[in-house]
Parts: sequence; structure tokens; C-alpha cells
Amino acid sequence: MTTSIEQLLNNQIKYEAQASMQYLAMASWSDANGYNGVADFFYSQSEEERLHMTKLVKFVNERGGKVIIPELKAPKSNFEGLNELFEKFLNSEIFVTEQINHIIYECLEHKDYNVHNFMQWYVTEQLEEEAMARTLLDKLNIIGNDKSGHYLFDRDINAIAASQQKE
Ligand code: FEO
Repeated sequence: MTTSIEQLLNNQIKYEAQASMQYLAMASWSDANGYNGVADFFYSQSEEERLHMTKLVKFVNERGGKVIIPELKAPKSNFEGLNELFEKFLNSEIFVTEQINHIIYECLEHKDYNVHNFMQWYVTEQLEEEAMARTLLDKLNIIGNDKSGHYLFDRDINAIAASQQKE
């Protein structure tokens, strides 16, 4: 693979790692603020992002590239409430999707069909994750600041997420 593609994949390793740590911080905030359902959801999202990162690390190594395990900046760990938490979630997923689209574009420019093929898994994954983040934020926007609505959202989030994944 070309050095520019290798660099992009290393950047992506960093973005996935950052997302994993961000979601861990979001899970911890939710835990500390009594939103146990939301905490479970983000603990699980954090694990998923870690798997996305590891999959890239293994791929770059298999292809004989050089992996750079990145230094990360501290994630945002304080939130005004659930609405801000889920806005951050959606924005994070949109950012990751944009970076993946950029890699796909560069793969086509460099005629690297092997990496292009590998990245298709991420394209599909991002479609699902972004759709889920949008659905959850839409629901919170309907609920607004209603505390009993937040209580029900916390209770039902894992069921909502599971049903979204079956669609
Ligand atoms: Fe692996 Fe949702 O970014």
C-alpha cells in the first residue's frame, strides 16, 4: 500500500480509538448520573469502537504496513444532560463517516482496490451507527427536558438500539 494510504489508515486507527475513549467517558458520565441504561449502551459502543480500531491495526500489519499506536487527547467527560450527550454521539459518528469516505476516495485515486474492499465493512457499519445515533437524538428532541421522558428513554434505550439493528 502507498504511504499516503498507510497514513490514512493510521489516522483512522486514531479516530476509532478516540471514539472508543469518548464513548467510555460518556458511559461513565451516564453511570455517575443515574442513567444506567444509557451507560450500558455507551459501554457497549466503546467496545465496538475498540474492535473497529483493532481490526485496522491487524489489517495494516497483515499488509506489511507500519502501525502507529497513537497518543490521544482527553475525551469530553462532562455533559449538561442526555441531549448534549447524544449530540456529541451523532457528531462523532458523522466525523468518522467523513473520514472513511475520504479513505474510500483516496483508495480509488490510488487504485488500491484491496484497501477499498476492506473499507466497505466500515462503510456499512457507519451507515448503521449514524442512523442509530440520529434515531436516538430525534427521540430526545421530542422528549426535550422532560425528566420522566428521560427516565423512560434510559429504561428503553437498549431495546430501541437492538430493534434498530434488526432493521
Ligand atoms: Fe467505528 Fe462508529 O466509528
